[in-house]
Amino acid sequence: DWTMSAYRDEAIAAIREQVGDQKVICGLSGGVDSSVAAVLIHEAIGDQLTCVFVDHGLLRKGEAEEVVTMFRDNYNMPLIHADEQELFLGELDGVSDPETKRKIIGKLFIDVFQKHAKEVGDATFLAQGTLYPDVIESVSFSGGPSVTIKSHHNVGGLPEKMGLKLVEPLRELFKDEVRELGRELGLPPSFIGRHPFPGPGLAIRCPGEITREKLDILREADAVYIDQIRKHGLYDEIWQAFVAILPVRTVGVMGDGRTYDFACALRAVTSVDGMTADYYPFTHEFLGETATRIINEIPGINRVTYDITSKPPGTIEWE
Ligand code: XMP
Repeated sequence: DWTMSAYRDEAIAAIREQVGDQKVICGLSGGVDSSVAAVLIHEAIGDQLTCVFVDHGLLRKGEAEEVVTMFRDNYNMPLIHADEQELFLGELDGVSDPETKRKIIGKLFIDVFQKHAKEVGDATFLAQGTLYPDVIESVSFSGGPSVTIKSHHNVGGLPEKMGLKLVEPLRELFKDEVRELGRELGLPPSFIGRHPFPGPGLAIRCPGEITREKLDILREADAVYIDQIRKHGLYDEIWQAFVAILPVRTVGVMGDGRTYDFACALRAVTSVDGMTADYYPFTHEFLGETATRIINEIPGINRVTYDITSKPPGTIEWE
């Protein structure tokens, strides 16, 4: 009679057995997988675990604060908040090619993670929230462009490079089981039900060159959109929803004058695993109301479109 609470106890025993009295570092992304892995390992070995949260300046509104508050204050975990916004945004300045963006972010992420991991001193283990499907996927989809899920957070080759052994307590679990384990460990439901968020973050929702101005506008618009989705009780029906800011300004009218501001696209899809997806059939009322709110509340955007592309042939993200 298999239960998640029995799994949790077994997993904790296995972590203690594997790690002994050594130190572990864990990269926290704010996603469900790394969060559940961190809480589980923290239960097993307490302060032998230190988490590193890299803020690359490409997070959604309020995200860094949420993650830091939850893990440092609620769970009392040793947590390094690596504020590396200047570095990432500096290196991305003037870059518009999507794969180049990913490569820059992936490489910097490894550098920054290594730098901060050194602050922990003598860690011998690196914890990762690898799931069973990741294990299979990495076997069956070798090569290809770096668009696989987690291509930057489960930084391939990092453990060897740093001379660290791996702790992967979720390796046998599917996503829904990880969520159940998360509930078992007391993570808040709002956290467990979060939409997936790509490692390169807002960089790939800002087609063309990334500027702080665009990122700030994007964060605000995205927050309004998600607020609308939550208010209408649609969040849990949707696999992923976000705003992309388009690299084009359009003309609008506001009062007596004209505006010349950015256009944005709303995206929302249903999906089982992210491999295929359908656009979400919002009502026209919902779309109209959301467009009005974004244009009224967010200076810098004067036009809102809805992306009705399914995957394939489109991708979920815009880049
Ligand atoms: P696409 O856009 O390829 O996305 O249909 C499928 C899923 O993967 C996420 N995604 C990424 N996640 N690094 C990540 O960690 C990436 O480079 C990346 N690209 C896409 C995307 O958000 C969706 O859930």
